[in-house]
Amino acid sequence: MGRFENKVVLVTGGNRNTGLDIVEKFMREGARVFLCGSSSASTAAGVEKLRARGLDGFTAQACDVGNIAEVTALFDLIEREAGRLDILVNNAADQGIGLGGPLEMDPESILKVMNTNVKGGFQVTQTACNRFFMKQGTRGVVVFLSSNTAMRAIRGRTAYCASKGAINSMVRALALDLAPIGIRVNACAPGYIYTERWDALDESVKARRRLNCPLRREAKGSDIANVVAFLASEESGNMTGEIVTCDAGCSCQHMPEDVDR
Ligand SMILES: NC(=O)c1ccc[n+]([C@@H]2O[C@H](COP(=O)([O-])OP(=O)(O)OC[C@H]3O[C@@H](n4cnc5c(N)ncnc54)[C@H](OP(=O)(O)O)[C@@H]3O)[C@@H](O)[C@H]2O)c1
Repeated sequence: MGRFENKVVLVTGGNRNTGLDIVEKFMREGARVFLCGSSSASTAAGVEKLRARGLDGFTAQACDVGNIAEVTALFDLIEREAGRLDILVNNAADQGIGLGGPLEMDPESILKVMNTNVKGGFQVTQTACNRFFMKQGTRGVVVFLSSNTAMRAIRGRTAYCASKGAINSMVRALALDLAPIGIRVNACAPGYIYTERWDALDESVKARRRLNCPLRREAKGSDIANVVAFLASEESGNMTGEIVTCDAGCSCQHMPEDVDR
């Protein structure tokens, strides 16, 4: 019997890259999974990819997590089809790529990234708690996808780094307030993950990135899915408010090996 048999799981941004691997992990371990992408087209594309992996029996509906009307509609669907929710994975993210450097970027672009990553994650969590967790004896579990860039910034991504720092603080604050009512909130903070974006990279860039990592490798989506599943399972039943880094050792070093000589 799988760890998530009889569990209902929602994975936001479950339609591509790491989100797909998180959906697959929960499904292979017995969960009934709901997922969303931000648009109908991207969500439908995710459905095709999951079917190509031999997966079926999940439910997908487009939902912009920053839009409360769309969030409410997604939870209406979960209510109709499953009648409960046990695990929420806040994976959806605006990467904030191409916004420009801090001297020229439009300050409004910070709000756009925050709307998805921070407000979106918050309002999906709040809705999950009020619509389901508070009414269920077994309550529920929340896992956020943070990033090691919350702790060590990367260049040209002010809005994204700020949003992931806010997520870390929000995870601790939510954990504190929700612990007395039996709801756990934790985060996985990945470093490099191999996604479709890596396919376009030159091999020398991939090699340089790997050299940045003490373990000399990036994560596969399944590495991240394993951590998320652990944080969602009873195996982590004594943990809340934690940010679990999964970055091949990047964050524990001062300099990459080739510089540190
Ligand atoms: N990739 C990395 O190296 C890395 C490193 C550290 C942390 N992370 C974090 O790990 C998680 C997964 O990363 P990833 O690289 O696999 O993500 P990704 O490829 O950028 O995909 C982002 C996902 O979020 C969805 N999304 C974006 N805005 C949304 C919105 N407003 N409402 C609903 N869904 C929305 C996207 O849906 P659409 O397809 O509709 O756009 C997509 O499914 C993210 O939280 C990311 O920040 C990633």
